[in-house]
Amino acid sequence: MEKSDLRVKIKSLQLRSPLILCSGTAGFGLELKPYLDFKYVGALITKTITLNKRGGNPPPRIAETSSGVINSIGLENPGLRGFLTQWPEIKKLPVQIIVSIYGENKREYEIIFRELNRIKEIKAVEVNLSCPNLEKKIISQDKKKSFSLVRYLRGLTKKILIVKLSPEVSDIVEIAKSILKAGADVLSLTNTFSALKIDIGKRKPFLGNIFGGLSGPAIKPLVLYRVYKVYQALRCPIIASGGVLNYKDALEFILAGAIGIGLGTANLVEPDSAEIIFKDLLSYMKKNKISSLKNLVGNGCK
Ligand SMILES: Cc1cc2nc3c(=O)[nH]c(=O)nc-3n(C[C@H](O)[C@H](O)[C@H](O)COP(=O)(O)O)c2cc1C
Repeated sequence: MEKSDLRVKIKSLQLRSPLILCSGTAGFGLELKPYLDFKYVGALITKTITLNKRGGNPPPRIAETSSGVINSIGLENPGLRGFLTQWPEIKKLPVQIIVSIYGENKREYEIIFRELNRIKEIKAVEVNLSCPNLEKKIISQDKKKSFSLVRYLRGLTKKILIVKLSPEVSDIVEIAKSILKAGADVLSLTNTFSALKIDIGKRKPFLGNIFGGLSGPAIKPLVLYRVYKVYQALRCPIIASGGVLNYKDALEFILAGAIGIGLGTANLVEPDSAEIIFKDLLSYMKKNKISSLKNLVGNGCK
């Protein structure tokens, strides 16, 4: 019998595993070293970095709900300089690093790309056009603005350009199509859903920023629906993130059309969830005599 294999190729990016640690839930990877064997991870997407250091939103920034978490971190990060200072350590990690970035304007993106383009080990960049925890409007909710920005960004780099979208739009296929037309290579579906928790004791919103973004099992069927719709219509490379906690969740996303499976909230629950999911996925493939994962991608789209 052929050996089962979990390797995947996303554009020119060869990954030994479809499991990808989502932005904001794995830092720059350094803190995870003692808890996770990276050989089960295909790639790690860094916390979104901005040109200048950001302090983030007022605390509390994380609220638990019955089936997920609401976060309002507000893109706290050490800025481009801070990232570059840590890069010599980050690059030693035995995992492919994808850098997540956000710019306030074109000039900021230009500076960020100028620096990242110099680092050959960075093969792909994810542009976060969907953070719900900023004062500004979410750009991927505006088809025209996001098209023009992505077209501009395409001209700034030859690296694999991943664009992360907001799920909160009336027609995700329309937006996805326009972002691909503008030059994105891969879509990252999706970021969190705007959400609220109220502290009934204090009779006021729980989070310091009032609102936050909901992630975890609560959003899985919602994101799955969007991945399915986009894959059906566009057959493009998709990294899915939305409530994957186990191999069955991962399989659902693969069958809906995702080639990369993001683990976000799962990392907060069990930092080594990638290892467990990888082993379970491999057992499933062996049991069902499936040699390559690519034979499953989109196979649930009938
Ligand atoms: C604490 C926390 C911080 C996050 N920070 C970012 C971020 O900086 N950039 C980003 O693109 N997404 C961020 N996200 C969204 C995740 O990358 C992911 O898309 C989302 O949580 C859905 O996946 P999940 O349900 O598996 O967590 C964050 C999520 C959480 C829970």
